[in-house]
Amino acid sequence: MKLSQRLAAVAAYVPPGSTVADIGTDHAYLPVYLVNEGIAPQVIATDVHRKPYESARETVAAYRLQDRISVRLGDGLKTLQPGEAGTIVIAGMGGKNMVQIFRRSPEVLETAGRLILQPMTHVETVRQWLWANGWYLLDEDLVAEDGHLYEILVAARGEETPVDPEIGPRLLEKRHPLLKKLLVEKEKHYLNILEGIKQSTNPETKGKAGQIREKLSKIQRVKQWLAAKQSTR
Ligand SMILES: C[S@@+](CC[C@H](N)C(=O)[O-])C[C@H]1O[C@@H](n2cnc3c(N)ncnc32)[C@H](O)[C@@H]1O
Repeated sequence: MKLSQRLAAVAAYVPPGSTVADIGTDHAYLPVYLVNEGIAPQVIATDVHRKPYESARETVAAYRLQDRISVRLGDGLKTLQPGEAGTIVIAGMGGKNMVQIFRRSPEVLETAGRLILQPMTHVETVRQWLWANGWYLLDEDLVAEDGHLYEILVAARGEETPVDPEIGPRLLEKRHPLLKKLLVEKEKHYLNILEGIKQSTNPETKGKAGQIREKLSKIQRVKQWLAAKQSTR
């Protein structure tokens, strides 16, 4: 099973030997990879929609891994018993959806020791939720693929003083090679919003300009800091 670069990066953070739950598995490519590569002895692959669930079942059957991968239909962590998975992977889903999944099943989440998350949107919401709920960021990664930049968060049990949730602290610490690209994307995003606000006649929209300018200048300051660090390397 050859994974996309994004999923391969997610797989790289799975602790060898742990029992994994892949929530929102779709085709079950990740579970098959984890088992075939000897990374995980058992994987639970879940999806809330019937079509991806059936497709996951087909992949698992094609690789004859039914005894190693349990495919389940249902919402989030609801299909798991507490203690069934030490590592929970959620990739390719919106960050707000991930947080809702955690909120709906605290008893399952409580028994997990590691979360590997690849939110498609609202990454800052996920970081904030982790910090407020007894998790710290063990590591973070960025993957560029097919014109997209994906953020990966690896969380473990523990406390961490929250910082600006928009820029990953571990990405900053390791001055990730793709961090500049991420900052440029964010800068463009806020400049576009400001342009939209400028065109708007709605007072409520106009009122948001200050907040957006603040976010933009924070991103620009980090960009400058990174450039200065890189020039002294
Ligand atoms: C874009 S796919 C990502 C598939 C795979 N995880 C990946 O990263 O390539 C998102 C999947 O999440 C599933 N999903 C969305 N909300 C879910 C939930 N609450 N519980 C379980 N699965 C969910 C969708 O049905 C869909 O198959």
